[in-house]
Amino acid sequence: MAKGERIIVALDVNTIEDLESLVDKLRPVVKIFKIGSELFTSCGIEAVDVVRRKGCKPFLDLKYHDIPNTVMKAARAATKQNVYMLTLHTIGGLAMMKKAVKAAREEAARLQTAAPLILGVTILTSLDKKDIQAIGIKGPLDEEVLRLVKLAEKAGLDGVVASAQEILAIRKAVEKDFLIVVPGIRPSWSQKSDQKRVATPKEAMDMGADYLVIGRPITAEEDPQAAAERIIEEIKD
Ligand code: C5P
Repeated sequence: MAKGERIIVALDVNTIEDLESLVDKLRPVVKIFKIGSELFTSCGIEAVDVVRRKGCKPFLDLKYHDIPNTVMKAARAATKQNVYMLTLHTIGGLAMMKKAVKAAREEAARLQTAAPLILGVTILTSLDKKDIQAIGIKGPLDEEVLRLVKLAEKAGLDGVVASAQEILAIRKAVEKDFLIVVPGIRPSWSQKSDQKRVATPKEAMDMGADYLVIGRPITAEEDPQAAAERIIEEIKD
């Protein structure tokens, strides 16, 4: 995989114009674009269509968490929309994850397209020990994350979204082809903004990340393409 294909740019905007402008600037060097709740709620499925029409791959980051039947149907619908990657919450349970995987693969086979890569979110990195105890999860955070990662693997998910701090432990616990997608990336030359537990692109890749999710260090720069190129250069080896 070319290094540019390992970078996913988070399109945290809320209009089609802003989305188009970013994708146009970046598509010479970046191929995957993440559409999250804000953009999707503002612009709907058109956001996915625009990314596709521009020859790039849409990552639909809606973090599904519902009863198995509902998530199964959502995964099927996302497959029909030809998304390249999607997310769901592992805490939704084994049956929910298994049904989503099965539905996506069956739908893809029926349409003769590729099934989306299905990624599990474990414990949100915005939650600390106190927060997870307050919602009734008792074990140490890292153990809970690993337990959910193993459950995701058992369900047949393609990988997980994890913070850089979790990469090494997850890599040890899963099969080689299980994907680790890592947000919270900050090159040494960029602002940390509100991200706390950050890693540089190179650190995350060296620890075993497959994809890096990067927003503001690229999108908030005056020249987003140059920022993306600089990051690609940093992870070249
Ligand atoms: O601008 P920045 O690089 O911080 O954007 C990171 C993107 O990754 C955002 O779209 C954010 O929602 C997402 N994300 C994250 N931390 C997680 C999971 C997702 O920052 N734990």
